Amino acid sequence: MYAEGILLNQHFRELVSREEVAWEVKYRLLRRLGSGGQGIVYLADRGGAFGVTFRLALKFFRPDRYQSVDEYRNDMSRLARLAMKLSRLQQDHLHDVYNVVESKGIMIQAMEWVDGYDLRRLLTPQTLEQTRGSVHPNRWDYVNDVIVTRTSEQLRLKPGIAISMIRECLHGVGALHREGLIHADLKPANIMIKRTGNCKIIDFGSAFAVDDKPPRNTWTPRYSAIEVQQGALPSPRSDLASLGYILFEMLSGQYPFSGVHSEEELIAAKTLLPKQLPFLLPEDVVRNSTLLNFLAKMIAEKPEDRFASAEDADLSEFGAAAFERELVKGDLSSEYENELRLWLAEIE
Ligand SMILES: Nc1ncnc2c1ncn2[C@@H]1O[C@H](COP(=O)(O)OP(=O)(O)O)[C@@H](O)[C@H]1O
Ligand SMILES: [Mg+2]
Repeated sequence: MYAEGILLNQHFRELVSREEVAWEVKYRLLRRLGSGGQGIVYLADRGGAFGVTFRLALKFFRPDRYQSVDEYRNDMSRLARLAMKLSRLQQDHLHDVYNVVESKGIMIQAMEWVDGYDLRRLLTPQTLEQTRGSVHPNRWDYVNDVIVTRTSEQLRLKPGIAISMIRECLHGVGALHREGLIHADLKPANIMIKRTGNCKIIDFGSAFAVDDKPPRNTWTPRYSAIEVQQGALPSPRSDLASLGYILFEMLSGQYPFSGVHSEEELIAAKTLLPKQLPFLLPEDVVRNSTLLNFLAKMIAEKPEDRFASAEDADLSEFGAAAFERELVKGDLSSEYENELRLWLAEIE
């Protein structure tokens, strides 16, 4: 026992005086969290000492979209550099990146597991149906009044909730832009709503640093700004337009530009949208000119007519915060984070 103790102390001293340490890591893949054009994301447990496990998400990047192995490697190394920039931001509304590793040539990103729903899924009618079965009729009315209600195709979020979510996204996007990073693929499937009631932006597969540009476009036409669809490189202001289209979807309960398919039609529909808002949005939204003006400025056709930055979109005279202040003054505000947390708990 005595000799063993001496040896253990020796190991300790050796270990802490080295410049490098190494050990083996093993992950157990638990279930698929989702997949998209660029990868497959798994929920995983990383094994630790004494049988403990650390839960996280692993994204495996597909090679099949690339013309050659070199092209895949080059883009992966660019995304790896970007992931490390992201990891240093430590912004609450952007997911944390833990590491980027390679296995047999495939790049895998280890990241924070965001427990919740992506916005695409949250807005499907099934989530509200699940609530109906589990709550008292009074609570059901309250949920429909304050949080979310069913319109035609999708659920629509009530203005207070939608704006508080967009503000969190603006905080995340603002932090990216200040570092010279563009997300370039903001859409409902790339925004997670955590069980805590907070939003996190995910999926930096199309993102790029302004000084380390991507070789080609991978963004989603439906949510991209008009100028990006016409061939311009995404910019902070095009990220803002994408957030605007997402806000339109949250407020209207309509998939934006449904029934429109060709590029030209999509561009024409986006050009017309700011003027058509009063005819497309529900009455409780249209009644509020501050909200309507905010949305119109987010999705203005010309980038120079949009807000100058995410901070501006949040905090300027016509920004999202001004709308929230109006709700407070009119005694119409609520603790939205908490409302979302409670509703999410009622979904299953
Ligand atoms: N860190 C995460 N935590 C929880 N779910 C995630 C996470 N990352 C991705 N997902 C889920 O997986 C889906 C696909 O991941 P994403 O990174 O968007 O892949 P792609 O680049 O292929 O679109 C997302 O829409 C989301 O539902
Ligand atoms: Mg995605």
